[in-house]
Amino acid sequence: MSFSVFRTSLRSARAANPLLQRRAAQLPKAQFRAEFNRKFSTPPPGPGAKSSNTTLYLGLGAAAAGGLAYYFYNTDGGKEAGTAVRSGAQAAKVAANFVPTKDDYTKVYNAIVKIMDEAGEYDDGSYGPVLLRLAWHSSGTYDKDSKTGGSNYATMRFEPEAKHGANNGLNVARDLMEKVKQQFPWISYGDLWTLAGVAAIQEMAGPHIPWRPGRIDGFAAQATPDGRLPDATQGADHLRNIFYRMGFNDQEIVALSGAHALGRAHKDRSGFDGPWTFSPTTLTNDFYKLLFDEKWVWKRWDGPKQLEDKKTKSLMMLPTDYVLVTDKSFKKYAKSYADNQDLWFKDFSKAVATLFELGVPTEQFVTPEPWIMPTVEEQEAKKEEKK
Ligand code: HEM
Repeated sequence: MSFSVFRTSLRSARAANPLLQRRAAQLPKAQFRAEFNRKFSTPPPGPGAKSSNTTLYLGLGAAAAGGLAYYFYNTDGGKEAGTAVRSGAQAAKVAANFVPTKDDYTKVYNAIVKIMDEAGEYDDGSYGPVLLRLAWHSSGTYDKDSKTGGSNYATMRFEPEAKHGANNGLNVARDLMEKVKQQFPWISYGDLWTLAGVAAIQEMAGPHIPWRPGRIDGFAAQATPDGRLPDATQGADHLRNIFYRMGFNDQEIVALSGAHALGRAHKDRSGFDGPWTFSPTTLTNDFYKLLFDEKWVWKRWDGPKQLEDKKTKSLMMLPTDYVLVTDKSFKKYAKSYADNQDLWFKDFSKAVATLFELGVPTEQFVTPEPWIMPTVEEQEAKKEEKK
């Protein structure tokens, strides 16, 4: 199928919400904001509100196909997961009878993008942000000391991890990815979810995120305890405790937090409400710019403590976002990213690539160097060149 059929134009992030993007370009800022303010409303619940655990359980083990098998079975990392995964993976490999190449993963990437763009009236017109949140929550459970958690085993498929408060609403993203999994049963859930995070960033006008396959599906026993993901009501010490545990430093904490340029908080998921920026389906450094340029005040409401911009009251910041300008060490990085989007894209790309590989033993990866997955637009351009 030609991409032009299902994608209207560049990074349909922008096209996904053409009204907003076009109006933003046409109108003076204040007028746009006034209009925009009206546009946001609490969205209806996403599709597939039911849990996908049953199908997910059935799919367990049908992954780690092809070249991964060799690396996995011959390493210490492999021994951890035991024989059931080994036989499951081998069965999948035999059944699939092929070793997936970069081209095969590109097909998966494209299937993800197609679904991402079929969001219609959901939120701001793209499933990209919630897919990125899934990839991050499946990776951000990593503990560098015990070497547990991370994206390797995709344990968010299992309860109780699926039901951890921090993961509220991610059933929407998991259910969407289940459709892709059915099309490409050979891919592991960890690879699928992280590839979806990569596709979300790249197709919403962000930088390339180096990525490579190699994650395997694990068991409920490998699920992580609650409390490993950050709690948005807390401060700088908490952020450091959580992210240092994953192996990140202050600069990386600030760089990763800029992902909140995308998407929005939902009252029925986290309790918080609203978007961080005026263009929630296009990745820009506006998150940092707005932190510095707007006056932020505590929102007066019956929800959890969050900030709103004084001028339009249509944007929000979490307490953990706001510490990026109140903590001295965080602030200097936040300022450098507000001043220079290229610098932020470079640092963000590096930190996200690291994040998505947390918890995956190096020997499991099918290639020593991560790949750059081409965007849909780049694939189209290449096809044109060949004509
Ligand atoms: C720094 C600590 C972080 C905290 C406390 C935090 C907290 C939150 C909260 C409370 C929400 C709202 C969820 C909802 O109601 O739907 C959210 C959404 C989101 N987060 Fe974070 N987050 C953090 C870091 C990150 C990182 C590192 C990334 C990615 C690299 C990320 C990506 C996102 C995205 C894309 C959304 C929007 C999801 C949507 O629109 O459905 N966050 N985050």
